[in-house]
Amino acid sequence: MSNSIQIIPVHTAPAYAVAIGGGLLPACGQRLREILGPCHAAVITDSTVAPLYLDTVARSLEDAGFAVSTYVFPAGEAHKNFETLSGILEFLAEERLTRSDCVVALGGGVTGDMAGFAAAVYLRGVRCVQLPTTLLSAVDSSVGGKTAIDLKAGKNLAGAFLQPAAVLCDTDCLATLPAHVFADGAAEAVKTGVLCDESLFALFEDGSLTAAPGEVIARCVAYKAGVVERDEREQGERRLLNLGHTVGHAIEKCSGYAIPHGHAVAAGLAIIARSAEALGWAEEPIAARIADCLAKNGLPTGTEYTAADLAHAASADKKRSGGDITLVIPKKIGVCALKKVPVGQLLPIISAGLEG
Ligand code: GLY
Repeated sequence: MSNSIQIIPVHTAPAYAVAIGGGLLPACGQRLREILGPCHAAVITDSTVAPLYLDTVARSLEDAGFAVSTYVFPAGEAHKNFETLSGILEFLAEERLTRSDCVVALGGGVTGDMAGFAAAVYLRGVRCVQLPTTLLSAVDSSVGGKTAIDLKAGKNLAGAFLQPAAVLCDTDCLATLPAHVFADGAAEAVKTGVLCDESLFALFEDGSLTAAPGEVIARCVAYKAGVVERDEREQGERRLLNLGHTVGHAIEKCSGYAIPHGHAVAAGLAIIARSAEALGWAEEPIAARIADCLAKNGLPTGTEYTAADLAHAASADKKRSGGDITLVIPKKIGVCALKKVPVGQLLPIISAGLEG
């Protein structure tokens, strides 16, 4: 299915564009040829996405004149590690990819992170294109240039910034996502509403996310693009995008990455909202409204882990600096603030946000 394509520019160095709309995967070759010129494209994807879209993408690239190599790794956050990274890097070397060639990340957040990190370090950096196929990667992770793998000590602890050369977000992929995978992306969309725009948040309260995902993706990406342009390397404002992520990453880690990222972020968002309200940091009642919205989108609002488990896991978070950690505190829907707290304060803060 093809419909109108929205283009969101991202003015980083280098600048690139995010294209959002139907029919982009079958037509990716021609579009990428205009952006990249002729080159060798190494398509990296996982075992879930390969049977769905790899042939379509490879054929489109070949038809447009690209030399194409493909690499498939086992799906799942548990594989976002050094072993998979090493497999991808050895593959790129065996395929003799050069600095004028390109890595194509086809899939969800794990694939974008893995393939992006491989592109960032292979030959000290080759171009990378992101083709997100999940709502989570569409609204958040494919844009902004963060790439990473997990270490035993925690999530995304080794990585690099590499802005993509292009992002093509084919909204036709969203129609076939299992409900829990769609919900995973809804968490990042709800997060964006809480961060910047009550009218965007209200769309998720009335179920409009499933009705018009392309519009929602475009609004989330436009907001994120502005933040990334102002603070590409997360020195300040970009830290706001980590709303719900300190506790969310702790939940993922405590679960051995069995709980998916979006579900963990949803619980982390609900918990920090309750903490903000209980500790008097919120300017109006927000916790019940945020929890109701998350639940309406099929997401959890709490966790089985104790505050001690979560505080311990969060103390290894990469948002820690010396003995402090910067939390993102919701003040009201559409307004959040950064708050630096001593790591020792994590336990009472998280305790305040756990459900009765
Ligand atoms: N996912 C948060 C960021 O890109 O900064």
